[in-house]
Amino acid sequence: MTEGKTIREFFEQDHDRLDELFTTFQQLKRSDFAKAEQAFKEFKVGLQRHIVWEEDLLFSLWEKKTGMSDSGPTPAMRNEHRQIGQQLESINSKVVNQNMDSDQEEEGLLNLLSSHNRKEERALYPAIDQVTSAEERKVVFLNMNNIPEERYNLCCGQH
Ligand SMILES: [Fe+2]
Ligand SMILES: [Fe+2]
Repeated sequence: MTEGKTIREFFEQDHDRLDELFTTFQQLKRSDFAKAEQAFKEFKVGLQRHIVWEEDLLFSLWEKKTGMSDSGPTPAMRNEHRQIGQQLESINSKVVNQNMDSDQEEEGLLNLLSSHNRKEERALYPAIDQVTSAEERKVVFLNMNNIPEERYNLCCGQH
């Protein structure tokens, strides 16, 4: 699945996959709540996993290779992850109460995510691809499978 892929290709595909799950949630929440809720859970866990992959493996590799950890793009990206996480929780608290009135929070999340993802896809991922070798990227992809599930499988209202 990750054979020979660049960071940009793989992580961009994960953004697209997550976008589709969120669209499914939005499209179905007023007609088939059970299915919408399922899509939201998959989205939430998937996004949390994506963020752990970035912060623990990708950004840390970039910071090590470039020597930029307090400066450079990653502190801002980590900060945006916290905002994304907060918005995700505010939608989640409505979903667990079967409250469909989350349009405003959804819009907030989509706004945050679209600008965040655009910056990663256009600038940060290509820069990471440039400073890493194929071998180093392979290690990232391998280590992604070794992240313990309890780091990201937090859903929904169980923590
Ligand atoms: Fe990110
Ligand atoms: Fe990302």
